Amino acid sequence: MKKVLTVILVAFIIIQFFPIDKTNPAPTPGMDFLKIKKVQPEIANLIKVSCYDCHSNETAYPWYSNIAPASWIMKNHIDEGRKELNFSTFAMYEQKRQVHKLQECIEMIERKEMPLDSYFLGHQNAKLSDEQRKILIDYFKREKTETERKMFY
Ligand code: HEC
Repeated sequence: MKKVLTVILVAFIIIQFFPIDKTNPAPTPGMDFLKIKKVQPEIANLIKVSCYDCHSNETAYPWYSNIAPASWIMKNHIDEGRKELNFSTFAMYEQKRQVHKLQECIEMIERKEMPLDSYFLGHQNAKLSDEQRKILIDYFKREKTETERKMFY
């Protein structure tokens, strides 16, 4: 038993020598979703608190982002999250893709798949109440309709 614990401890120490890269990508002025859409503050705040750490270039890294293997999992979520949807570069998406992403936002929130459950461990405040979920779904639906309207006229 003591041997096993020693091995685990040593392994834990060794993996600390492999930190993650926490450099956020350079800012892209004029491309950020919340800025171009002039989202009302209450809704903007919900999106910022619940989505932006993984879906923007403005990730705030908590203290445990210094500790492997939690840091590796986090890094993976951020890389994958940005690849799927990056609010910081939203205006660079083609309109068709914007509509598609807005639809996915609606679905992810409806199905309670986003924010990811693991995120709540360190971010209790990112948890959405039923009421907040409804506010966001209604908002993304309005925004989707608006974007579609612009596509056709
Ligand atoms: C802890 C990180 C994290 C947070 C916070 C988070 N996401 Fe995600 N999101 C991911 C990851 C990782 C993926 C890609 C893998 C997957 O689909 O599970 C993803 C995928 C998505 C997708 C694409 C889904 C698809 O159909 O492929 C959408 C849309 C999305 N997230 C919206 C949101 C919204 C809206 C919020 C806030 C309410 C949010 N996410 C919060 C990590 C996160």
